[in-house]
Amino acid sequence: MAGMLEGKVALVTGGGGGIGRATALAMVREGAKIAVADFAAAAARDTVAQINALGGQAITLTGDVTRADDVRAMVQDTVTAYGRLDCAFNNAGIAPYQVNASGQKTADWSEESFDRMIAVNLKGVWLCMKAEIAHMLAQGGGGAIVNTGSIAGLAGLPTSSAYVAAKHGVIGLTKTAALEYADARIRVNAVCPGFIETQMTADTMRRRGEAIMAQIPLRRMGQPGEIAEMVVWLCSERASYVTGGAYNVDGGWMAL
Ligand SMILES: NC(=O)c1ccc[n+]([C@@H]2O[C@H](COP(=O)([O-])OP(=O)(O)OC[C@H]3O[C@@H](n4cnc5c(N)ncnc54)[C@H](O)[C@@H]3O)[C@@H](O)[C@H]2O)c1
Repeated sequence: MAGMLEGKVALVTGGGGGIGRATALAMVREGAKIAVADFAAAAARDTVAQINALGGQAITLTGDVTRADDVRAMVQDTVTAYGRLDCAFNNAGIAPYQVNASGQKTADWSEESFDRMIAVNLKGVWLCMKAEIAHMLAQGGGGAIVNTGSIAGLAGLPTSSAYVAAKHGVIGLTKTAALEYADARIRVNAVCPGFIETQMTADTMRRRGEAIMAQIPLRRMGQPGEIAEMVVWLCSERASYVTGGAYNVDGGWMAL
């Protein structure tokens, strides 16, 4: 039986980390050829090694999603390697502790922390879409883009101010691009993870894991592979009538 992404070419940013890596692996299992992009070169190479070990095809790309030149190069290198771009998962992101804002309320965030958070988690997604859509249009239209939002893109989350603002912004960008490029058959959606077991949540879970767990209806963290399932589906032809949406994979959190 053919895979859900048989013959497709996909770019995954943040592919060296938890959700990005799991999604790159899931896409390969479904028949895609992958470009794994990450700021952290060694982590991206590690994902590619895991893909190659499964017999899949992948290339490593290194760059910072906040830099337009890096992003253009990521997309161009994907097209040079595989001849086209069908799917993109714009997933690279950082948490408040990575900009020294851990535990800080809105008025306590420094301007520097706020700016870096918005640069990576919001502008980075826009720069990726800008370069990806240009290529998809140039190859005659068609394609699927999935951006990583969060439950923090749908509701407030104390001490995560700029993170929440960026993720709400990602959902706005997703809806707008979906409307603008529907005529060109480019579908644009967001996935909204709840608390997923990755490097990003390790610190928060150590500090207040029990309280968080008590709030999750399914009473456990999600696994990166459970986000990957949604992303693969959204990128596939099975989601051919799905665009402009934000899909929660959160153990029921947003139903509260
Ligand atoms: N883990 C969760 O609970 C959770 C919940 C909701 C949303 N998310 C989102 O999921 C995405 C992936 O997070 P994760 O949990 O897998 O974290 P992670 O830290 O394991 O992976 C993130 C990856 O992004 C890369 N990255 C960071 N900044 C970058 C930059 N400027 N340019 C290129 N690459 C960069 C990192 O090197 C890392 O490999 C993020 O957008 C995050 O906000 C995560």
